[in-house]
Amino acid sequence: MSLSKKTIKSLFQMKQDGQPISMLTAYDYTIAGIIDRAGIDMILVGDSLSNVFQGNDTTLPVSLEEMIYHTKAVMKGVKQAFVVVDMPFGSYQVNETEAIKNAITLLKATNAPAVKLEGGQTMVNTITKLVQSGIPVMGHLGLTPQSIHQLGSYEVQATLPSARETLIADAQALEKAGCFAIVLEKIPADLATSISKLLTIPVIGIGAGNGCDGQVMVINDLLGLDASFKPKFVRKYLNLNVAISEAIQLYKADVTNKHFPSAEESY
Ligand code: KIV
Repeated sequence: MSLSKKTIKSLFQMKQDGQPISMLTAYDYTIAGIIDRAGIDMILVGDSLSNVFQGNDTTLPVSLEEMIYHTKAVMKGVKQAFVVVDMPFGSYQVNETEAIKNAITLLKATNAPAVKLEGGQTMVNTITKLVQSGIPVMGHLGLTPQSIHQLGSYEVQATLPSARETLIADAQALEKAGCFAIVLEKIPADLATSISKLLTIPVIGIGAGNGCDGQVMVINDLLGLDASFKPKFVRKYLNLNVAISEAIQLYKADVTNKHFPSAEESY
């Protein structure tokens, strides 16, 4: 399969053509390569790596250096997908200068083309400055995991009329500030559909129904790597935790019974 390299322009064209955009997270070279060769349009080096890779309860602990480490590995595996890197908690909230400095560090060190950050109207000045500096920014609204201590839970967001209005205003503000796309996480499907229609930039949903311009999933969820994680919006395309466990048990039995390695597997 020959795939053309995805750009902001081609993603924008996909929205205009009504062609759904696929996006997945990746945190390492091998998985990024598999995702890329499968033709996924966008890859997110998500700060969800704090949860699924580092084993933290929240996305807050992951550092800029750790995001750089994982993004460098991902970039080596990617040929065609458009890569977006999450700016970690604390790297863009202090002030605009810090945000620009950290975004530049992230892009220079990794060669990734774009960053993602969380927040609505309060982030407009920061996003404007980043975009003015030539840095493509993806917004993230709805459930914003970096604000978990303020939100109090990972419940669905923007269910009340006032919160719905605020979210629409936030989305419009992000588009106006120059975001090339936004993620909408865990909000009612009808609201995500309305916002997708309202904005000219691509709107990528996660737990936001089928009316968005595209969908994003955490790769570990798609592969079913964590048997205990079963939110309603996750579709497990594999039960890889079971397959891995079975393979490891077979290996252990073979080692214990001295069936591995065989003569053919020896020098
Ligand atoms: O970090 C992440 O994986 C994300 C997705 C949930 C959109 O931000």
